Amino acid sequence: MGSLKSFMDQLTYQFSLSNQELKEIAQSFGEEMAKGLGGQPSSLKMLPSYLANPTGKEKGSFLALDFGGTNVRILLVELLGEGKITVTKQKSFPLAGEGYNYMVSTAKELFDFLAQQITQFIDQDKTYYLGHTFSFPFRLEGVNKGILLNWTKEFDVSGVEGQDVMELLHHSLAQKGADNVILAAILNDTVGTQLTAAYQDPQCQIGSIIGTGHNTCYLEKGIIINMESGNFNKLSLTRYDQILNKDSEEPDSQWLEKMASGRYLGEIVRLIMKEMEEQGLLRESYPYHWTEKYSFSSAQMSQILSKKEENILTQVCALVRLRSIQLIAATYLGILEHLGNPVNIAIDGSLYEKMPDYAYLLQQTMQEIYPNPITIKLTKDGSGMGAAIAAALCQNK
Ligand code: BGC
Repeated sequence: MGSLKSFMDQLTYQFSLSNQELKEIAQSFGEEMAKGLGGQPSSLKMLPSYLANPTGKEKGSFLALDFGGTNVRILLVELLGEGKITVTKQKSFPLAGEGYNYMVSTAKELFDFLAQQITQFIDQDKTYYLGHTFSFPFRLEGVNKGILLNWTKEFDVSGVEGQDVMELLHHSLAQKGADNVILAAILNDTVGTQLTAAYQDPQCQIGSIIGTGHNTCYLEKGIIINMESGNFNKLSLTRYDQILNKDSEEPDSQWLEKMASGRYLGEIVRLIMKEMEEQGLLRESYPYHWTEKYSFSSAQMSQILSKKEENILTQVCALVRLRSIQLIAATYLGILEHLGNPVNIAIDGSLYEKMPDYAYLLQQTMQEIYPNPITIKLTKDGSGMGAAIAAALCQNK
């Protein structure tokens, strides 16, 4: 049996990367970008969005459906021009609750549920243009036709992969008689974040989500590209990552996401703590069951970090947080180097917004590895408001 100190030294070694290592990751990220753009096999899908940055002058009222995590949101958004946006009405509802779980269901059950929520939200005698933020990898075959490539974030709804998500939604809406809803655009949440930030700041050319999932988009020759960077896989996995990956819904996909996003960080902490408990290294006792899968969440991790107590659990949480930040920073560096000039980065997502010190440490890491000044800013609600901007941009297409 090893000592606690040597265990923690090993863990620190595995979970903290040097600036040199980050630069190497950035370089291989750049290589994967180039391959993906060139149509060669790559872990980065590099999916064109058909959308360019807005001018900030777009105006009107649009309906937005924001679907991609445990909660779905429907919003009525008013674009006022001059970079100003207001949300005039919204509702949020969970996909899983007492006696139901639409994250593990059939396509019909899921889309009928969404259509029902939409019809309850709108007026029957008005016409709406709807933008749908769909936070999964999909291939566009038109501004309002998106084919789901694969589910992520442990979603498992049968009959959607390979299908046009907008057609499924259209069908369910039509059955409810909601022909006053025109499905104008489908977009990824990173793209929504980018559009929302760019509506006010044309210098913003990278949009990213650090929440339940992780992904980034950027502006390539005037078009926003959804990289699906959560799938980046030129990374070395620790044994904890390997266990998590093997036990996940889709093993061998979304490596970066599984090492860096909110759906998984708590589970990595749990796996480490479980091993320490098994090795008899834990002297303190904690009110958690380290043997139960996914029983420790990233939200609990945030609570632990906010207390700043000096114990092993806090140290483990801090190391897992640090690696998430460093890996994501390395991918941003890869994009900035590919672009060759400094641009601003907009980020939305619960981890970035709520995990203690996450945003600050990310900014600090970027300053250490990238020589030029850039602004990294929280774009709250970007995925919802961006759907309205996309609907405005596509309403006449
Ligand atoms: C999805 C992306 C999405 C990201 C953030 C990932 O699991 O593949 O499309 O942008 O989560 O929500």
